Amino acid sequence: MKKTLVFKVNPENPEAEIIREAASIMRNGGLVAFPTETVYGLGADALNAKAVLALFRAKRRPLDNPPIVHVGKFEDVYRLARAVPAKAEILMKTFWPGPLTLVFKRSSIVPDVTVAGLDTIAVRMPKHNVALALIRESGCPIAAPSANLAGRPSPTTAEHVLEDLGGRIDAVLDAGPTRIGVESTVLDMTVDPPQILRPGGTPREALEAVLGRVELHPVAIAEKKLPVEKARSPGMKHRHYAPKAKLIVVEGELSAAVKKVMELVNLYRKRKVKVGVLATDETANLYEADVVKSLGSRSRLDVVAKNLFRLLREFDAQGVDVIIAEGVPTEGLGLAVMNRLRKASGYRIVKASV
Ligand code: TXA
Ligand code: MG
Repeated sequence: MKKTLVFKVNPENPEAEIIREAASIMRNGGLVAFPTETVYGLGADALNAKAVLALFRAKRRPLDNPPIVHVGKFEDVYRLARAVPAKAEILMKTFWPGPLTLVFKRSSIVPDVTVAGLDTIAVRMPKHNVALALIRESGCPIAAPSANLAGRPSPTTAEHVLEDLGGRIDAVLDAGPTRIGVESTVLDMTVDPPQILRPGGTPREALEAVLGRVELHPVAIAEKKLPVEKARSPGMKHRHYAPKAKLIVVEGELSAAVKKVMELVNLYRKRKVKVGVLATDETANLYEADVVKSLGSRSRLDVVAKNLFRLLREFDAQGVDVIIAEGVPTEGLGLAVMNRLRKASGYRIVKASV
Protein backbone atom coordinates (compact mmCIF):
# COMPACT_ATOMS: atom_id res chain seq x y z
CA MET A 1 0.00 0.00 0.00
CA LYS A 2 1.20 3.47 -0.78
CA LYS A 3 -0.34 6.71 0.35
CA THR A 4 -2.52 8.20 -2.38
CA LEU A 5 -2.36 12.00 -2.34
CA VAL A 6 -5.67 13.74 -3.05
CA PHE A 7 -5.49 17.23 -4.55
CA LYS A 8 -8.68 19.29 -4.90
CA VAL A 9 -8.29 21.27 -8.07
CA ASN A 10 -10.31 23.95 -9.84
CA PRO A 11 -11.86 22.34 -12.96
CA GLU A 12 -11.72 25.53 -15.04
CA ASN A 13 -8.49 27.16 -13.84
CA PRO A 14 -6.38 24.42 -12.28
CA GLU A 15 -3.89 25.69 -9.68
CA ALA A 16 -0.43 25.83 -11.28
CA GLU A 17 1.45 24.45 -8.26
CA ILE A 18 -0.81 21.37 -8.05
CA ILE A 19 -0.40 20.69 -11.77
CA ARG A 20 3.38 21.07 -11.39
CA GLU A 21 3.49 18.58 -8.53
CA ALA A 22 1.29 16.04 -10.38
CA ALA A 23 3.32 16.43 -13.58
CA SER A 24 6.54 15.86 -11.70
CA ILE A 25 5.16 12.64 -10.16
CA MET A 26 4.36 11.44 -13.66
CA ARG A 27 7.70 12.45 -15.15
CA ASN A 28 9.30 10.32 -12.42
CA GLY A 29 7.33 7.25 -13.45
CA GLY A 30 4.43 7.65 -10.99
CA LEU A 31 0.68 7.17 -11.47
CA VAL A 32 -1.74 10.09 -11.25
CA ALA A 33 -5.52 9.89 -11.75
CA PHE A 34 -7.09 12.96 -13.33
CA PRO A 35 -10.48 14.08 -14.66
CA THR A 36 -11.34 14.25 -18.33
CA GLU A 37 -14.67 15.30 -19.85
CA THR A 38 -15.70 11.62 -20.09
CA VAL A 39 -14.47 9.70 -17.03
CA TYR A 40 -11.43 9.87 -14.72
CA GLY A 41 -8.26 8.43 -16.26
CA LEU A 42 -5.22 6.89 -14.58
CA GLY A 43 -2.17 8.49 -16.16
CA ALA A 44 1.41 7.36 -16.69
CA ASP A 45 4.15 8.60 -19.05
CA ALA A 46 3.24 6.69 -22.24
CA LEU A 47 6.87 6.49 -23.35
CA ASN A 48 8.10 5.02 -20.04
CA ALA A 49 7.61 1.25 -20.28
CA LYS A 50 8.14 0.70 -16.54
CA ALA A 51 5.55 3.31 -15.61
CA VAL A 52 3.02 1.83 -18.04
CA LEU A 53 3.61 -1.65 -16.63
CA ALA A 54 2.94 -0.27 -13.13
CA LEU A 55 -0.26 1.24 -14.52
CA PHE A 56 -1.51 -2.16 -15.71
CA ARG A 57 -0.66 -3.67 -12.30
CA ALA A 58 -2.44 -0.94 -10.32
CA LYS A 59 -5.62 -1.51 -12.33
CA ARG A 60 -5.18 -5.31 -12.42
CA ARG A 61 -5.66 -4.90 -16.15
CA PRO A 62 -4.81 -7.76 -18.54
CA LEU A 63 -1.62 -6.90 -20.44
CA ASP A 64 -3.28 -7.52 -23.81
CA ASN A 65 -5.62 -4.53 -23.47
CA PRO A 66 -3.78 -1.29 -24.32
CA PRO A 67 -4.69 2.11 -22.86
CA ILE A 68 -5.52 5.27 -24.81
CA VAL A 69 -2.65 7.73 -25.18
CA HIS A 70 -3.63 11.33 -24.39
CA VAL A 71 -1.97 14.28 -26.10
CA GLY A 72 -2.07 18.02 -25.47
CA LYS A 73 -1.08 19.15 -28.96
CA PHE A 74 -1.62 17.96 -32.52
CA GLU A 75 2.15 17.58 -33.22
CA ASP A 76 2.32 14.70 -30.77
CA VAL A 77 0.01 12.63 -32.97
CA TYR A 78 2.59 12.74 -35.74
CA ARG A 79 5.27 11.43 -33.35
CA LEU A 80 3.10 8.56 -32.13
CA ALA A 81 1.47 7.56 -35.43
CA ARG A 82 3.26 6.28 -38.51
CA ALA A 83 0.58 7.66 -40.82
CA VAL A 84 -2.23 10.13 -40.22
CA PRO A 85 -4.92 9.79 -42.94
CA ALA A 86 -6.59 12.95 -44.29
CA LYS A 87 -9.93 11.87 -42.82
CA ALA A 88 -8.32 11.71 -39.38
CA GLU A 89 -7.01 15.25 -39.74
CA ILE A 90 -10.53 16.44 -40.50
CA LEU A 91 -11.82 14.68 -37.39
CA MET A 92 -9.04 16.11 -35.22
CA LYS A 93 -9.84 19.63 -36.41
CA THR A 94 -13.57 19.11 -35.85
CA PHE A 95 -13.76 17.09 -32.63
CA TRP A 96 -10.53 17.71 -30.66
CA PRO A 97 -10.22 18.40 -27.89
CA GLY A 98 -13.15 16.08 -27.25
CA PRO A 99 -14.43 12.55 -26.56
CA LEU A 100 -13.06 10.93 -29.73
CA THR A 101 -10.18 8.43 -29.81
CA LEU A 102 -8.51 7.66 -33.14
CA VAL A 103 -6.63 4.44 -33.87
CA PHE A 104 -3.54 4.77 -36.10
CA LYS A 105 -0.59 2.65 -37.19
CA ARG A 106 1.95 3.32 -34.46
CA SER A 107 5.47 4.70 -34.68
CA SER A 108 8.62 3.09 -33.27
CA ILE A 109 9.02 5.52 -30.34
CA VAL A 110 6.10 3.85 -28.53
CA PRO A 111 7.10 1.05 -26.12
CA ASP A 112 5.47 -2.33 -26.82
CA VAL A 113 3.77 -2.47 -23.43
CA THR A 114 1.91 0.81 -24.10
CA VAL A 115 0.20 -0.72 -27.14
CA ALA A 116 0.09 -4.30 -25.82
CA GLY A 117 2.33 -5.40 -28.67
CA LEU A 118 -0.09 -4.21 -31.38
CA ASP A 119 1.06 -2.29 -34.46
CA THR A 120 -1.59 0.36 -33.79
CA ILE A 121 -2.09 3.07 -31.18
CA ALA A 122 -5.23 4.78 -29.85
CA VAL A 123 -4.85 8.56 -29.33
CA ARG A 124 -7.08 11.35 -28.08
CA MET A 125 -6.99 14.96 -26.88
CA PRO A 126 -9.33 15.35 -23.90
CA LYS A 127 -11.52 18.43 -23.44
CA HIS A 128 -10.82 19.24 -19.82
CA ASN A 129 -8.61 22.03 -18.53
CA VAL A 130 -7.11 19.88 -15.78
CA ALA A 131 -6.22 17.06 -18.18
CA LEU A 132 -4.79 19.44 -20.76
CA ALA A 133 -2.77 21.38 -18.17
CA LEU A 134 -1.35 18.15 -16.77
CA ILE A 135 -0.38 16.72 -20.17
CA ARG A 136 1.19 19.99 -21.30
CA GLU A 137 3.09 20.51 -18.03
CA SER A 138 4.41 16.94 -17.98
CA GLY A 139 5.70 17.32 -21.54
CA CYS A 140 4.96 13.69 -22.40
CA PRO A 141 2.06 11.85 -24.00
CA ILE A 142 0.05 10.24 -21.19
CA ALA A 143 -1.26 6.67 -21.29
CA ALA A 144 -4.56 6.79 -19.43
CA PRO A 145 -7.12 4.03 -19.21
CA SER A 146 -10.18 4.72 -17.08
CA ALA A 147 -9.12 4.95 -13.41
CA ASN A 148 -11.06 1.92 -12.14
CA LEU A 149 -10.07 -1.65 -11.31
CA ALA A 150 -10.37 -3.73 -14.48
CA GLY A 151 -13.94 -4.88 -15.05
CA ARG A 152 -15.57 -2.33 -12.70
CA PRO A 153 -17.77 0.59 -13.81
CA SER A 154 -15.63 3.54 -14.93
CA PRO A 155 -15.16 6.34 -12.38
CA THR A 156 -16.97 9.64 -12.86
CA THR A 157 -15.80 11.13 -9.54
CA ALA A 158 -12.55 11.13 -7.55
CA GLU A 159 -14.39 9.15 -4.82
CA HIS A 160 -14.97 6.32 -7.34
CA VAL A 161 -11.25 6.37 -8.18
CA LEU A 162 -10.32 6.08 -4.49
CA GLU A 163 -12.87 3.28 -3.95
CA ASP A 164 -11.01 1.16 -6.52
CA LEU A 165 -7.44 2.47 -6.48
CA GLY A 166 -6.87 4.18 -3.11
CA GLY A 167 -3.49 2.98 -1.81
CA ARG A 168 -2.51 1.65 -5.26
CA ILE A 169 -1.65 4.92 -7.05
CA ASP A 170 0.37 8.04 -6.19
CA ALA A 171 -2.22 10.78 -6.52
CA VAL A 172 -5.65 11.82 -7.75
CA LEU A 173 -6.69 15.27 -8.94
CA ASP A 174 -10.24 15.86 -7.75
CA ALA A 175 -12.13 18.36 -9.94
CA GLY A 176 -15.64 17.07 -9.22
CA PRO A 177 -17.89 14.87 -11.37
CA THR A 178 -17.14 14.50 -15.08
CA ARG A 179 -19.44 16.09 -17.65
CA ILE A 180 -20.16 13.27 -20.11
CA GLY A 181 -20.01 10.15 -17.93
CA VAL A 182 -19.25 7.52 -20.60
CA GLU A 183 -15.86 7.05 -22.27
CA SER A 184 -14.74 8.39 -25.63
CA THR A 185 -15.76 6.88 -28.95
CA VAL A 186 -12.94 4.68 -30.31
CA LEU A 187 -12.70 4.97 -34.10
CA ASP A 188 -10.37 2.82 -36.18
CA MET A 189 -8.74 5.02 -38.84
CA THR A 190 -6.59 2.21 -40.26
CA VAL A 191 -9.58 1.01 -42.32
CA ASP A 192 -11.78 2.87 -44.81
CA PRO A 193 -14.57 3.61 -44.12
CA PRO A 194 -13.48 4.15 -40.52
CA GLN A 195 -15.01 1.76 -38.02
CA ILE A 196 -16.34 2.44 -34.52
CA LEU A 197 -14.79 -0.09 -32.14
CA ARG A 198 -16.41 1.41 -29.06
CA PRO A 199 -19.34 3.85 -29.13
CA GLY A 200 -18.86 6.73 -26.71
CA GLY A 201 -19.10 10.46 -26.09
CA THR A 202 -18.99 11.43 -29.78
CA PRO A 203 -22.15 10.01 -31.42
CA ARG A 204 -21.92 8.09 -34.69
CA GLU A 205 -24.36 10.60 -36.21
CA ALA A 206 -21.91 13.47 -35.54
CA LEU A 207 -19.05 11.54 -37.18
CA GLU A 208 -21.15 10.71 -40.23
CA ALA A 209 -22.23 14.34 -40.62
CA VAL A 210 -18.55 15.17 -41.17
CA LEU A 211 -17.15 12.05 -42.86
CA GLY A 212 -20.01 10.35 -44.62
CA ARG A 213 -20.14 6.63 -43.98
CA VAL A 214 -18.79 5.29 -40.68
CA GLU A 215 -19.15 1.60 -39.84
CA LEU A 216 -20.05 0.02 -36.54
CA HIS A 217 -18.05 -3.02 -35.50
CA PRO A 218 -20.45 -5.76 -34.24
CA VAL A 219 -18.68 -5.63 -30.88
CA ALA A 220 -19.57 -1.94 -30.61
CA ILE A 221 -23.23 -2.91 -30.77
CA ALA A 222 -22.53 -5.59 -28.15
CA GLU A 223 -25.74 -7.55 -28.65
CA LYS A 224 -23.98 -10.80 -28.02
CA LYS A 225 -20.65 -12.24 -27.06
CA LEU A 226 -18.45 -12.61 -30.13
CA PRO A 227 -15.64 -15.09 -30.71
CA VAL A 228 -12.25 -13.73 -29.67
CA GLU A 229 -10.84 -13.62 -33.21
CA LYS A 230 -13.52 -11.07 -34.14
CA ALA A 231 -12.35 -8.76 -31.38
CA ARG A 232 -10.48 -6.04 -33.26
CA SER A 233 -10.08 -3.93 -30.15
CA PRO A 234 -8.45 -6.05 -27.47
CA GLY A 235 -10.67 -4.55 -24.78
CA MET A 236 -13.60 -6.16 -26.52
CA LYS A 237 -12.71 -9.57 -25.14
CA HIS A 238 -12.86 -8.71 -21.48
CA ARG A 239 -15.90 -8.32 -19.23
CA HIS A 240 -16.49 -4.66 -18.58
CA TYR A 241 -18.28 -2.01 -16.61
CA ALA A 242 -19.82 -4.58 -14.33
CA PRO A 243 -21.30 -3.94 -10.92
CA LYS A 244 -20.96 -6.74 -8.36
CA ALA A 245 -24.68 -7.45 -8.68
CA LYS A 246 -26.05 -9.63 -11.46
CA LEU A 247 -27.43 -7.34 -14.17
CA ILE A 248 -30.20 -8.13 -16.68
CA VAL A 249 -31.05 -5.72 -19.51
CA VAL A 250 -34.61 -5.62 -20.85
CA GLU A 251 -34.98 -4.19 -24.35
CA GLY A 252 -37.92 -3.59 -26.65
CA GLU A 253 -40.91 -1.32 -27.06
CA LEU A 254 -41.40 0.62 -23.81
CA SER A 255 -44.74 -0.74 -22.53
CA ALA A 256 -43.65 -4.32 -23.24
CA ALA A 257 -40.29 -3.69 -21.57
CA VAL A 258 -41.94 -2.25 -18.46
CA LYS A 259 -44.15 -5.33 -18.19
CA LYS A 260 -41.15 -7.63 -18.56
CA VAL A 261 -39.17 -5.70 -15.93
CA MET A 262 -42.11 -6.09 -13.50
CA GLU A 263 -42.26 -9.83 -14.19
CA LEU A 264 -38.55 -10.24 -13.53
CA VAL A 265 -38.74 -8.16 -10.34
CA ASN A 266 -41.50 -10.44 -9.03
CA LEU A 267 -39.59 -13.54 -9.98
CA TYR A 268 -36.44 -12.48 -8.12
CA ARG A 269 -38.32 -11.12 -5.10
CA LYS A 270 -39.85 -14.56 -4.61
CA ARG A 271 -36.30 -15.88 -4.40
CA LYS A 272 -35.70 -13.51 -1.45
CA VAL A 273 -32.85 -11.61 -3.06
CA LYS A 274 -32.47 -7.82 -2.99
CA VAL A 275 -33.74 -6.52 -6.32
CA GLY A 276 -32.94 -3.18 -7.92
CA VAL A 277 -34.46 -1.56 -10.99
CA LEU A 278 -32.53 0.83 -13.21
CA ALA A 279 -35.39 2.83 -14.72
CA THR A 280 -35.99 6.20 -16.40
CA ASP A 281 -37.98 9.24 -15.22
CA GLU A 282 -40.94 8.16 -17.36
CA THR A 283 -41.19 4.74 -15.69
CA ALA A 284 -39.51 4.85 -12.27
CA ASN A 285 -42.67 5.12 -10.17
CA LEU A 286 -44.30 2.16 -11.92
CA TYR A 287 -41.93 -0.26 -10.22
CA GLU A 288 -42.01 -1.86 -6.79
CA ALA A 289 -38.59 -3.23 -6.00
CA ASP A 290 -36.15 -2.98 -3.08
CA VAL A 291 -34.31 -0.14 -4.79
CA VAL A 292 -35.46 1.85 -7.83
CA LYS A 293 -33.17 4.40 -9.48
CA SER A 294 -33.77 6.62 -12.48
CA LEU A 295 -31.14 7.34 -15.12
CA GLY A 296 -33.03 10.50 -16.16
CA SER A 297 -35.55 11.24 -18.87
CA ARG A 298 -35.64 9.05 -21.98
CA SER A 299 -35.61 12.27 -23.99
CA ARG A 300 -32.24 13.26 -22.46
CA LEU A 301 -29.82 10.49 -23.36
CA ASP A 302 -26.91 12.80 -22.45
CA VAL A 303 -28.19 12.87 -18.86
CA VAL A 304 -28.75 9.09 -18.92
CA ALA A 305 -25.10 8.62 -20.01
CA LYS A 306 -23.84 10.92 -17.29
CA ASN A 307 -25.67 8.99 -14.53
CA LEU A 308 -25.06 5.42 -15.69
CA PHE A 309 -21.77 4.43 -14.01
CA ARG A 310 -22.54 6.29 -10.78
CA LEU A 311 -25.86 4.48 -10.38
CA LEU A 312 -24.30 1.06 -11.05
CA ARG A 313 -21.84 1.75 -8.22
CA GLU A 314 -24.67 2.93 -5.94
CA PHE A 315 -26.56 -0.36 -6.38
CA ASP A 316 -23.44 -2.17 -5.18
CA ALA A 317 -23.08 0.15 -2.20
CA GLN A 318 -26.68 -0.69 -1.24
CA GLY A 319 -26.03 -4.41 -1.43
CA VAL A 320 -28.42 -5.14 -4.30
CA ASP A 321 -28.12 -8.72 -5.62
CA VAL A 322 -29.88 -8.38 -8.97
CA ILE A 323 -30.36 -5.27 -11.10
CA ILE A 324 -33.02 -5.24 -13.81
CA ALA A 325 -32.20 -2.44 -16.27
CA GLU A 326 -34.52 -0.87 -18.82
CA GLY A 327 -32.93 -0.39 -22.24
CA VAL A 328 -32.89 3.03 -23.92
CA PRO A 329 -32.95 3.93 -27.63
CA THR A 330 -29.62 3.34 -29.43
CA GLU A 331 -29.44 6.80 -30.99
CA GLY A 332 -26.97 9.56 -30.05
CA LEU A 333 -25.34 8.77 -26.69
CA GLY A 334 -27.89 5.96 -26.25
CA LEU A 335 -25.68 3.64 -28.31
CA ALA A 336 -22.81 4.10 -25.83
CA VAL A 337 -25.19 3.55 -22.90
CA MET A 338 -26.56 0.32 -24.39
CA ASN A 339 -23.05 -0.94 -25.22
CA ARG A 340 -22.04 -0.46 -21.56
CA LEU A 341 -25.25 -2.00 -20.19
CA ARG A 342 -25.12 -5.03 -22.48
CA LYS A 343 -21.49 -5.69 -21.60
CA ALA A 344 -22.06 -5.09 -17.89
CA SER A 345 -24.83 -7.69 -18.05
CA GLY A 346 -22.47 -10.28 -19.53
CA TYR A 347 -25.01 -10.30 -22.42
CA ARG A 348 -27.96 -11.25 -20.20
CA ILE A 349 -30.31 -9.45 -22.58
CA VAL A 350 -34.06 -10.04 -22.58
CA LYS A 351 -36.05 -8.86 -25.60
CA ALA A 352 -39.59 -7.90 -24.61
CA SER A 353 -42.34 -7.87 -27.23
CA VAL A 354 -46.02 -6.96 -27.19
O1 TXA B 1 -12.87 8.48 -22.41
C1 TXA B 1 -11.95 7.67 -22.45
O2 TXA B 1 -11.60 7.11 -23.51
C2 TXA B 1 -11.23 7.35 -21.14
C3 TXA B 1 -10.59 8.64 -20.61
C4 TXA B 1 -9.76 8.40 -19.38
O3 TXA B 1 -9.85 9.24 -21.64
N1 TXA B 1 -10.25 6.33 -21.33
C5 TXA B 1 -10.59 5.02 -21.52
O4 TXA B 1 -9.51 4.18 -21.63
O5 TXA B 1 -11.72 4.63 -21.56
P1 TXA B 1 -9.60 2.59 -21.50
O6 TXA B 1 -8.17 2.16 -21.52
O7 TXA B 1 -10.37 2.22 -20.31
O8 TXA B 1 -10.26 2.10 -22.81
C6 TXA B 1 -9.49 2.09 -23.99
C7 TXA B 1 -10.19 1.34 -25.08
C8 TXA B 1 -10.21 -0.14 -24.80
O9 TXA B 1 -11.44 -0.67 -25.24
C9 TXA B 1 -9.05 -0.64 -25.67
O10 TXA B 1 -9.19 -1.97 -26.06
C10 TXA B 1 -9.12 0.30 -26.86
O11 TXA B 1 -9.49 1.54 -26.31
N2 TXA B 1 -7.83 0.42 -27.52
C11 TXA B 1 -6.68 0.89 -27.03
N3 TXA B 1 -5.69 0.80 -27.93
C12 TXA B 1 -6.23 0.27 -29.04
C13 TXA B 1 -5.74 -0.09 -30.34
N4 TXA B 1 -4.47 0.11 -30.67
N5 TXA B 1 -6.59 -0.61 -31.23
C14 TXA B 1 -7.88 -0.80 -30.91
N6 TXA B 1 -8.43 -0.50 -29.71
C15 TXA B 1 -7.61 0.02 -28.79
MG1 MG C 1 -11.85 1.30 -19.14
